[in-house]
Amino acid sequence: MQTFLILLALLGLANTGIAWRHFLRGRAKHGNLGEPVLSKKYELPNDQWFEQFLDHFNPTDARTWQQRYFVNSSYFKKGGPVFLMIGGEGTASAKWMVEGQWIEYAKQFGALCFQLEHRFYGKSHPTSDLSIKNMVYLSSEQALADLAYFIEGMNRLYQIPAGTKWIAFGGSYPGSLAAWLRAKYPHLVHGAMSASGPLLAQIDFQQYYVIVEKALRTHSDACVKTVEAANNQIHIMLRHRIGQEGLKKKFNLCEPIDPGHTKTRDIANLYENLASNFADVVQYNKDNRNSSKTSNITIDTICDILTNETIGVPVDRLAEMNNLIMKANGDKCLDFSYIKMIKELRNVTWNNEAAEGGRQWMYQTCTEFGFFQTSTARPNLFSETFPVEFFIQQCTDIFGPRYNINLLEAAVERTNTLYGALQLDVSNVVFVHGSIDPWHALGMINSTNPQAPSIYINGTAHCANMYPPSKEDPPQLTQAREEVGRLIGEWLKNSL
Ligand SMILES: *[C@@H]1O[C@H](CO)[C@@H](O)[C@H](O)[C@H]1NC(C)=O
Ligand SMILES: *[C@@H]1O[C@H](CO)[C@@H](O)[C@H](O)[C@H]1NC(C)=O
Ligand SMILES: *[C@@H]1O[C@H](CO)[C@@H](O)[C@H](O)[C@H]1NC(C)=O
Ligand SMILES: *[C@@H]1O[C@H](CO)[C@@H](O)[C@H](O)[C@H]1NC(C)=O
Ligand SMILES: *[C@@H]1O[C@H](CO)[C@@H](O)[C@H](O)[C@H]1NC(C)=O
Ligand SMILES: *[C@@H]1O[C@H](CO)[C@@H](O)[C@H](O)[C@H]1NC(C)=O
Ligand SMILES: *[C@@H]1O[C@H](CO)[C@@H](O)[C@H](O)[C@H]1NC(C)=O
Repeated sequence: MQTFLILLALLGLANTGIAWRHFLRGRAKHGNLGEPVLSKKYELPNDQWFEQFLDHFNPTDARTWQQRYFVNSSYFKKGGPVFLMIGGEGTASAKWMVEGQWIEYAKQFGALCFQLEHRFYGKSHPTSDLSIKNMVYLSSEQALADLAYFIEGMNRLYQIPAGTKWIAFGGSYPGSLAAWLRAKYPHLVHGAMSASGPLLAQIDFQQYYVIVEKALRTHSDACVKTVEAANNQIHIMLRHRIGQEGLKKKFNLCEPIDPGHTKTRDIANLYENLASNFADVVQYNKDNRNSSKTSNITIDTICDILTNETIGVPVDRLAEMNNLIMKANGDKCLDFSYIKMIKELRNVTWNNEAAEGGRQWMYQTCTEFGFFQTSTARPNLFSETFPVEFFIQQCTDIFGPRYNINLLEAAVERTNTLYGALQLDVSNVVFVHGSIDPWHALGMINSTNPQAPSIYINGTAHCANMYPPSKEDPPQLTQAREEVGRLIGEWLKNSL
């Protein structure tokens, strides 16, 4: 409580500026599923709006709001199924209505295609702002009920014949939603393709950086050794003034380092910023998306820098990599101010930059999922400075003292109880994961249920099977796409 009040006082004093992160807590800006690369120019479908209840779980609350969706009927053939792309923790992109692997399946099966944006993200604003009082309506359960009402609404609006089969598609958090939708509303959804979905809610997601390390090792052990050595050097440099000034210069920090007592969270934030560069590159390695300016920076790019001794000692190579990523993102300097970051995430207005989804996703992690990517499993590699307490403190600092470890523990247990975590019992679902995607650690990678198999792709990243195919795709990715198509064909044939 006291820390919270002190922080509030500091917030008033902190100068404004953008400390907004391109990659925060394993979430890419604008959401984890990127936009597909388009092979040509299209006229993209327009925004459509669907009236939705604010609170699906209180029949005495009649308040409604407008939810955005897209439709593409160009592939529909009489008697065909309906495909539903589930929006997630970012703005829904109309580009998904014209290209992407699900569109290939739509062509194959003659499907009518919809995409529903997730409540509280993009243009789907159920409330006047993002205050705590309003965000109680932001949850995966409300989102699933939105999808259920949407399906019924579209069945009426498009006069879709009874018995028409709906198949859901989702990647990342919507990958979980797709599987849960089939589990909770089997009378509405006949099957689901769940890509890279974290089904297990977990506060301390230590495995994340373990898999990042493994992914870097696919380049070389030397790459991992350099990261370790560089972090050791940073530790030492932080202890004295010359070192601190050196770090400011090398890493192009926005402000000088003050390792005094009050600013230790800045140091944790600095380390976490540097580590999340690796996370971003690994999570999206060589996929076929076009929403990130860093999409051509791969594990090979960064490890080639890290292992290039001509550049200098390890800390210099780490700085070179950091600067390459900053340059690609168009960042002038590295802002590691904890207070500034918190201040932005406390902003409740829709026209603020954090309203692109950062605040909302933070809320969902603090009240439903955890998923905090801590350094504690690999402290020598990524530093010991961002343990789970660092993230729980953020929940408290952003949302208030009630958002603490007790709430989180209950929240995560609740999520796993309501959905079944990795014991999820479901049929007509395919779980697809990539071995270098850190999120696979919380997903169904080894299903023993023949009615809900897993496909584990060696060497691919987050949601790789959803992007449009490219000539550079490894054969196992192509096979995975074919296998998903085959499974959809099976589901459409039977009436399980
Ligand atoms: C990638 O996205 C940018 C910005 O939206 C766009 O200008 C560019 O044409 C896209 N490239 C491809 C290949 O889709
Ligand atoms: C559906 O997508 C195709 C491209 O795949 C596009 O040419 C067409 O205009 C889209 N149709 C609608 C109704 O948006
Ligand atoms: C990535 O693409 C940009 C723009 O095309 C280019 O300037 C940059 O050098 C590329 N980076 C790498 C690592 O290939
Ligand atoms: C190593 O870095 C130097 C200096 O930036 C560069 O000239 C050289 O091409 C790099 N070597 C490799 C193998 O990438
Ligand atoms: C929230 O963000 C908006 C838009 O950037 C800004 O105008 C407003 O001053 C911010 N509010 C606070 C309390 O910082
Ligand atoms: C799946 O389980 C089998 C048998 O328990 C095991 O041999 C295999 O390594 C597991 N696969 C993955 C990807 O964990
Ligand atoms: C995955 O691919 C890597 C590199 O192509 C290979 O060395 C490894 O044996 C493969 N693993 C499996 C389980 O097929």
